[in-house]
Amino acid sequence: MSELALITGASSGIGRELAVVHAEHRGDLVLVARREARLADLADRLRGDHGVTVYVLDRDLSEPGAAAALVADLDRADLKPAILINNAGFGYWGRFHEQDLARNARMVRLNVTALMELTGLLLPRMVRHGRGRILNVGSTAGMVPGPRQSVYYATKAFVNSFSQALAAELQGTGVTVTVLCPGPTESEFAAAADLQDTRSFRGRRPSSREVAEYGYASMLRGKDLVVHGWQMKTLMYLGLRVAPRRAVIRVVERLQSKREAPVAPPSGERRRRG
Ligand SMILES: NC(=O)c1ccc[n+]([C@@H]2O[C@H](COP(=O)([O-])OP(=O)(O)OC[C@H]3O[C@@H](n4cnc5c(N)ncnc54)[C@H](OP(=O)(O)O)[C@@H]3O)[C@@H](O)[C@H]2O)c1
Repeated sequence: MSELALITGASSGIGRELAVVHAEHRGDLVLVARREARLADLADRLRGDHGVTVYVLDRDLSEPGAAAALVADLDRADLKPAILINNAGFGYWGRFHEQDLARNARMVRLNVTALMELTGLLLPRMVRHGRGRILNVGSTAGMVPGPRQSVYYATKAFVNSFSQALAAELQGTGVTVTVLCPGPTESEFAAAADLQDTRSFRGRRPSSREVAEYGYASMLRGKDLVVHGWQMKTLMYLGLRVAPRRAVIRVVERLQSKREAPVAPPSGERRRRG
């Protein structure tokens, strides 16, 4: 197979590993993200290791019109991806009323608008040709409201819902849409979102490679929605069905809270102990 895959957010984490997995399947690639040097390094490595053709496009997909400009460039170069992997995304920790509104708006444009527009621009051709695969990276966060990451959770609710609806619409067309829902995963995501000290990011997390392999295999099987990891599967398929929604929201809020800084004992006590 040397099918061309367009992968957004390929400069780190899950997107980077998806690019490696696709190259291991002898697939050609268009890599998109803002950090061009990283994309160029990865492209060199994949060309050398797997003999695949790799194109690099440094783009800020949170800019209005970015998806249309990207597809126009692909058209000019006569590049027709048979696989679209909408992976680029970021989170942002904090209470909504205290957050930078512009940063949240950028997040919606990247996590939601760019994903929807790239899909809308590339899907009609896939349907006309009767073949194509789309893998959208959603999240378990999209299955519940997320206090202290309210906008991020809502963007992922869009990704999960939109993708499953498309998967149903496209039955019988030869085109499949898969949404991959990872839980907390080792990548640059937590640092970018200021989440490192939250309870949800403590403890062992699966690697981006594990998540990418699972997502890629699920895409090839044409699954509609997949949750990575048995613990997350149990929580999502069982926990969310039986627990009252308000209780779930309280649990999520607790998971999004940060470790309290240790309170220093009063100075008299310090002296007594010392
Ligand atoms: N890690 C987790 O715990 C977790 C859990 C569930 C879902 N997810 C989802 O998984 C996807 C990948 O995240 P990750 O964990 O791999 O995080 P990551 O290591 O931070 O990777 C994010 C990727 O998105 C790209 N990106 C960010 N802003 C962009 C922009 N404005 N334009 C173009 N590209 C942009 C980044 O590249 P540049 O900075 O070079 O632009 C990077 O390649 C995201 O959609 C995320 O929401 C992650």
